[in-house]
Amino acid sequence: MNLTVRDTLLQKATDLKIIPTLNGIINKVFHILGNKNSSFNDLCDVVQYDQAISSKIISIANSAYYSRGVEIFHLQRAMLTIGFEEIKGIVTALLFMDNILKKLKLKEEDLFSLWKHSIEVACAAKILSERMLVEDPPKAYTVSLLHDIGKIVFYLGVENYGALLRDAEMNRQDVSVLEKQRFGIDHQEAGYIISVKWKFPEDFAYAIRYHHEKGDTGKYVSLVNMVKAADQFFLSPGDVNTTEGLILQKERGRITREMEKIINFLQLV
Ligand SMILES: [Fe+2]
Ligand SMILES: [Fe+2]
Repeated sequence: MNLTVRDTLLQKATDLKIIPTLNGIINKVFHILGNKNSSFNDLCDVVQYDQAISSKIISIANSAYYSRGVEIFHLQRAMLTIGFEEIKGIVTALLFMDNILKKLKLKEEDLFSLWKHSIEVACAAKILSERMLVEDPPKAYTVSLLHDIGKIVFYLGVENYGALLRDAEMNRQDVSVLEKQRFGIDHQEAGYIISVKWKFPEDFAYAIRYHHEKGDTGKYVSLVNMVKAADQFFLSPGDVNTTEGLILQKERGRITREMEKIINFLQLV
């Protein structure tokens, strides 16, 4: 075990204080997204203080798809036009990609592949939640969007981490095992540290901490297993010998279409 690298990465995970640099806006938004009792107004109240999110929402509300020729310049009106669930998805994706990752100057291709994988897993988990009638689908979506957040620490602290991920994928190796062997820490542990520091809901932190674990994880088993199954589907696409795998295999086309829609919607092409 390389303790020096582990210590450096642990420090990076602990020091990843994006939220205070944004005056706590991201922290509040994640809290709202993770709380099923929060309202549309709660989200508006926070988003209105962030230029990056507000400008994107106004821009999307004024796209041909939503505006129907009427100019929308009021943020709350724009958010009402788009709809609460859509706004939550947009805000989460924006925080994840623009506000967090670009600020840290990650390579564009690495950033995109992490984002795309996260969205795919999120869409898959939402489908599993709907089809198996376990957990709340939007919650399954959000936690899955964040499941690999610990990888940010490795992108920042490990030279050529993107290449390591691609090699692991090609050789069908579990990346968390590889990380632990090489660095003494994996992205689950780094993600858990971030989850606790950023005050994610406890079950989110658990799913982030244990999504590669083989055995029973004790608490929040159904949520952890859902994230695990959705993640596994994209890591080993040929392996569909489980109920979850079979469901996702059938829904693969829907996930691909959803991905295309999101990528177009956020103008990432
Ligand atoms: Fe992972
Ligand atoms: Fe993953």
